[in-house]
Parts: sequence; C-alpha cells; structure tokens
Amino acid sequence: MHSFITSAALVASASVCLAAPAQLKSRSTFQIEQVAAGKVFKSGPVAMMKTYNKYARVGAVAPSAVVDAAAAAQSGEVAANPEQYDESYLCPVTVGGQTLNLDFDTGSADLWVFSTLTPSSESTGHTLYNPKTSGKIKQGYSWNISYGDGSGAAGSVYADKVVVGGVTATSQAVEAATSVSSQFEQDTANDGLLGLAFSSINTVEPQAQTTFFDTVKSSLAKPLFTADLKKGAAGSYDFGYIDNSKYTGAITYVPVSTTNGFWEFTAGGYSVGTPNATTGSIGDAIADTGTTLMYLPTSVVAAYYKSVRGATDDQSQGGYVFSCSSTLPDFHVAIGGKSFTVPGSYINFSPVDSTGSQCFGGIQANTGIGFTIFGDVFLKSVFVVFDQTQSSPRLGFAEQ
Ligand SMILES: *[C@@H]1O[C@H](CO)[C@@H](O)[C@H](O)[C@H]1NC(C)=O
Ligand SMILES: *[C@@H]1O[C@H](CO)[C@@H](O)[C@H](O)[C@H]1NC(C)=O
Repeated sequence: MHSFITSAALVASASVCLAAPAQLKSRSTFQIEQVAAGKVFKSGPVAMMKTYNKYARVGAVAPSAVVDAAAAAQSGEVAANPEQYDESYLCPVTVGGQTLNLDFDTGSADLWVFSTLTPSSESTGHTLYNPKTSGKIKQGYSWNISYGDGSGAAGSVYADKVVVGGVTATSQAVEAATSVSSQFEQDTANDGLLGLAFSSINTVEPQAQTTFFDTVKSSLAKPLFTADLKKGAAGSYDFGYIDNSKYTGAITYVPVSTTNGFWEFTAGGYSVGTPNATTGSIGDAIADTGTTLMYLPTSVVAAYYKSVRGATDDQSQGGYVFSCSSTLPDFHVAIGGKSFTVPGSYINFSPVDSTGSQCFGGIQANTGIGFTIFGDVFLKSVFVVFDQTQSSPRLGFAEQ
C-alpha cells in the first residue's frame, strides 16, 4: 500500500491514517503466479515514423500502415499481478538484465529496487538488482523517499537499462536501495517500486531524475499509459497505446493538475446504492495505483457506511469495519459528468483477524492525509488512461 510520496510534514500525520490493520502487515507467504511479460513489438516502424515526423515540415506524410505499425512498436503490455487482498499489484520488470517484480505507483516518481547494496538483514527473500553487472554509477547522487503509510527507502543511483513489457529505456535512473523500512522488508514478493507520477517529485539529489515513463515517452507511439487492474486477478499496464478491447463505451477525460506532481483531478458527486443519483462534490483527488484503498472526505465516508448495517468507525482498527457477512452497497462517483461504479464487493477489503467475523472497509476517511485518494479499490473498477498526448496532461476513465 505504499502510496503517494509525502512532503516531510505529511509523513507523521499520515502514517496513522494509512496504516493497514496490523495483522495485514505480516501477510502469510503468498506466491503470485508469474505471468510472462507481454508482447514485444518490433521497433522498425518507430524508426520510420521518426523519419516521417522529421520531414513532416517539408511535406512527408507517413502511410497509415506505418502509422499503425509504429503505434504498435514502441509500446508494450506488462502484467499486473495482485498480492493477497489486492494490497498491491506487481509487474515483472527487467532491470540491468535481472527480472524484478515492481509495484507500479502513479503516486510517486522514483524507480527504486532492492539491490546487492541492501543489507542482507533487510533484503532476504527479495530478488536483488546488482548494479555491478551493467549499472553506471551516478557519482554524488542519492535518494531518500517517504511514503504516506510511513514506509521509506534510501540509497544510491545508477544509470541502467530497464525493460517493461517490450518498452526499453536504455539509460534509466535506477535507484538502488542501501536501506529500506520494515514494511518493505516483509513484503518479499515486492522488489521495489516503479513511480509513474510526474518527474517533478522524483527524490534524487542533487538533481531529480525522470520516471521510466518520462524517459521513454518521446519514443512511445503515443505519450500515454493505461491501467487495467482487476479484483483478485492479473490485470495489465499498457505503454504507448490504448487497447480498445479493455474497455467499453466512451473514455471520459478530465484535466489534470500537475502542481503537486500527482495525477490530480476533480471528482464530482457521489451516491450510495443508487446509480444516476450523484449529489454533492468530492472535489480534488489523486489517481494513485500505489495506494490500496479509497480515501474520501469524512462526510462521504459516513454517508456510505450509514447504508451498511452494523458498520462502525473502529479506532482500534484504524477505520470503518463491519460484519463480514454484510452485503455492501455499490458506490457511485461522477467524473467528468459520467457516473462510475465501485461494486460493493470491492469495498470489503479483508477480515480484520483470523476469526473472519469483522471486515475492514475499502473506503476510508482521508482525515490527516490532506487530500482525497482514488486508490486501487476505485482504479480496479475502471479502465484508466494516464494521458500526455494533449498540451496538458489529462486522465481518461472508462468502464472495463
Ligand atoms: C532519509 O530520510 C529520513 C527522514 O527524513 C531520515 O530519517 C533518514 O535518516 C534518511 N535516510 C538516509 C539514508 O539518508
Ligand atoms: C444510469 O447509470 C448507468 C451506469 O452508469 C448507465 O449505464 C445508464 O445509462 C444510466 N441511465 C440513465 C437514465 O442515465
């Protein structure tokens, strides 16, 4: 659940709000099935497109077949495999020749990995990046990141080759951990993060580095990526193209503010149980694949759980809980004038203990965080486009 990167001031207050129920942190060993990294496309058409683009000024027009082939070329798909309870989704990424499982996080902008520089006491069970194999040290550079749930990591920086589902960054800033917090140590399925927020919030010093997406953006068929996350099943991230088979209906686009470095947008009204009846306004929110749950204004959360029999805001659990046998109503939210639905079953996050009698809610209050987060509980309900094809970034939402 490592979620959005925080400013120093936010770390202390947010660590409590975002803490998962304690028992979830020591998750039982859970093997995700490795899914082969996606399609690998030929890069020839992209080279051709570059040529056409270079000479467009003097009248060159690429044949549509080349445009289409190029669109398929510098692009690729990578599987996103959920951990237990969909706490995070991991994707296979080749870093300097080694395949690691990374959490793709649209709420932060660092690509950091467990490495041979991480003390073995902190890295046992993880697959490690060995910078000695092909990495080129960026002398004098370092990084140190803190996430909204109180977790963090720090280390050194290398330039190395990174491949995601057939898309290659030949010289990507790879942040090799020399220390990680206990939350990351324990999550042995997770070998690091791949940040997909805006590069302005990358933590490398003395100079921020570009995210994987920003590094490859200009070579992609289109400067966008999409997230198609699933409940309890492998979904995918696609880079450089929109796979029309992954959504139905139209894509609704909304403007993004990059001021804080996040994919930040304005959400509209909401309703509980009844579609097409949204009222009020949720307001400013971020789309964050690295946050497990949905964190909404307290009034919205209270309105939701009023419709759940026996639901209580249980301080000892850190949020709303209810009987695991409760039937949860759907949650509807308007974005760009269209209503999107989070199925009630997605809002039952997990049992709070082994008795399985009380369950922890997938919608919780954003108290102390300072903003609203549309995390995986929402994002796995929709198909999302993180789009930089226009003069300013935008987010697209459609039904899966
Ligand atoms: C990283 O930053 C945190 C919080 O600011 C600090 O406590 C920690 O010592 C730093 N770690 C390193 C390795 O610089
Ligand atoms: C009500 O909402 C559903 C789901 O968003 C949509 O498919 C349907 O067209 C809407 N109906 C009306 C009358 O707006």
